[in-house]
Amino acid sequence: MSRTFYVTTPIYYVNDVPHLGHAYTTVAGDVLARFKRQRGYEVFFLTGTDEHGQKVAQAAGKKGISPQAHADAVHQRFKDAWQRLDITNDAFIRTTDEGHARVVQAALSRLWDKGHIYQKEYTGWYNVSDEVFVTDPEDIKRLQAEGKVEEVTELNYFFRMSAFQDRLISEIRSGENLVIQPESRRNEVLGFLKKPLGDLSISRPKTRFDWGVELPFDRDHICYVWVDALINYCSALGYLRRPGTETGTETGTETGTDAGAVASAELDNGFAPFWPADVHLIGKDILTTHSVYWTTLLMALDVPLPKRIFGHGWWLVDGQKMSKSIGNVVDPNKLADEFGADALRYFMLREVPFGVDGDFAAQALVLRLNAELANGLGNMASRVCNLVGRSGGHFIADPAPLAEADTLAQALADAVIRFDEEMNQLRFHQALAAVVGVVDQTNQLIQNTEPWALLKRAAEDPQAQATFDAVMAIAGTVLKTAAALLYPVMPNKMAELWHGLGQESPLAELTFDGASTVLPASGGGKVGKLKVLFPRLDTKAVKSFAERAREIENRGVTGTPEEGIIKIDDFQGVELRVGEVITAEKVPKSKKLLLVQVGFGEEQGLPVRRQIVAGIGHAYAPEDLVGMQVVAVFNLAPAKLMGQESQGMLLAADDENGKPRLVTFAAPARPGARVS
Ligand code: MSP
Repeated sequence: MSRTFYVTTPIYYVNDVPHLGHAYTTVAGDVLARFKRQRGYEVFFLTGTDEHGQKVAQAAGKKGISPQAHADAVHQRFKDAWQRLDITNDAFIRTTDEGHARVVQAALSRLWDKGHIYQKEYTGWYNVSDEVFVTDPEDIKRLQAEGKVEEVTELNYFFRMSAFQDRLISEIRSGENLVIQPESRRNEVLGFLKKPLGDLSISRPKTRFDWGVELPFDRDHICYVWVDALINYCSALGYLRRPGTETGTETGTETGTDAGAVASAELDNGFAPFWPADVHLIGKDILTTHSVYWTTLLMALDVPLPKRIFGHGWWLVDGQKMSKSIGNVVDPNKLADEFGADALRYFMLREVPFGVDGDFAAQALVLRLNAELANGLGNMASRVCNLVGRSGGHFIADPAPLAEADTLAQALADAVIRFDEEMNQLRFHQALAAVVGVVDQTNQLIQNTEPWALLKRAAEDPQAQATFDAVMAIAGTVLKTAAALLYPVMPNKMAELWHGLGQESPLAELTFDGASTVLPASGGGKVGKLKVLFPRLDTKAVKSFAERAREIENRGVTGTPEEGIIKIDDFQGVELRVGEVITAEKVPKSKKLLLVQVGFGEEQGLPVRRQIVAGIGHAYAPEDLVGMQVVAVFNLAPAKLMGQESQGMLLAADDENGKPRLVTFAAPARPGARVS
């Protein structure tokens, strides 16, 4: 087989609705996959969904359906989003695929047989929502106050992760087999590894919940979701799959390499051609699970390590963390509808260096798209196509020499080399900057030489004709080369440009070596008028994404309400619930603020609790509040008051002395019930 390239995204929690953060990794993976295919590599690009675990079981329970039925329904949201964003994944793995589950069991059996797993009674603080044991005493204290951890004693199976600490450190230090990027994340992992590495609990007793892969050596336990999920990277290729059985993994849409066919290669370590993975793309929050858990598991299985793990940064939205309660969770489908999938893909990779956090602000998006796509590349493309169309419709192969054109040709040759270097280092923003730079220089040349004026004189002035031809030839070459280089990022728009330049063969099928990507414009078909590639966006009409999200949520509320009057939908958007005060204490250094822990009954057998900071300390003694039933705003964005997080608000009204009196009930209500 020719050179191979295997790139993966994390598999996304199936319960989540796809958002900008998920889209970011997936678009980056797609750009890399398309880039490598264009350079002649045999590529396998994997994405998928993580479908086991307590949260999925709980969500299904709420709907009254089985976890499998729930996952079957909701995983489709990811597939739809990836289709909308033109993602060319070669396979889509679901951890509930039968083939995957069998591979997880086979891998666990192997670890068990080799003595890498042992059994131990364990007492610890378990965080249900994150599905992890919390070990840091500070974290335990904080989460206890929030009612998010519970103490459990259970029989667990442990993976002897500690045994691989020294080897992992030397692998990361040497960088020969495994590179963690960017540098800051590598240092973070090495810092983490300075402390002794514990062993990893890899099982959960079925008495807690049973939505997972059964341990092959103890049917009363299921595999820890993270171990199950990480193995996807190998199971999708057919690792430990018995010959003749299917992986169950669905193949992707566009290029559609058959995961089953790839898989049939071998049962064991030679399950490649695609392993070891060339790069696991992940967000910075899941660095430890990948750089430590996954790598040590692979060592124990005697499987080669992935060549590279890249932890990218996070997107904030209009300066804030994305959150359902703030209402600023950005839906990539809607952005693609509004700005076009290509422009969105471009912005994501161009705006911020891949390794660092960025702010996804509507204003920045509009400015960037206008400057570089509408006014830059798009404007130049329509000018050049229009002018060449008017002067015969062909780029000239050997125009008369022109010094400025030679300088530009050199700049283009340099940009082409730089583009590949930057792409290979996953510095997408720099790779794009290289193309933007040369497009700017070309626009400058066009501005200086005024080819529209040259064209008017061309009939009687051979010198004007010669200069016109030379400027158009190099501008066409820049455009054609840019179309090819930018194709992985903007496949639709660049294909339009490619055809506009008179190229008849499909751009999607073009392959070339990075070192020789300058593509002369001459020799193609007839150049025609190009329709506007990137419409200019109205800067004044830009609204923040939070504003838009709110507008969308409020859709359906028609008519302009009278001032001060709200619609029933607005009222129903405020979730009021019955709470019961569990504890209350004064917030240090504050006269009025009390820190109140409020219980809201149980959901799925688990207590629901919130910490609320209330300005009622001058009206109530903390001990008087305990046991009292209150009304709380349950879906308020969390806020910090005097250093304490408040996750809601208690309803109160002033008495005749101006002191707050809490809203309560004449007869006991059911904790957690909605007040309506
Ligand atoms: N299921 C696990 C991954 C298992 S991989 C073997 C998981 N899923 S997730 O859906 O919660 O997150 C998937 C990815 O989305 C992570 O890489 C995370 O960093 C990324 N993002 C979530 N929010 C993000 C932003 N706001 N910005 C950028 N990426 C972020 O973790």
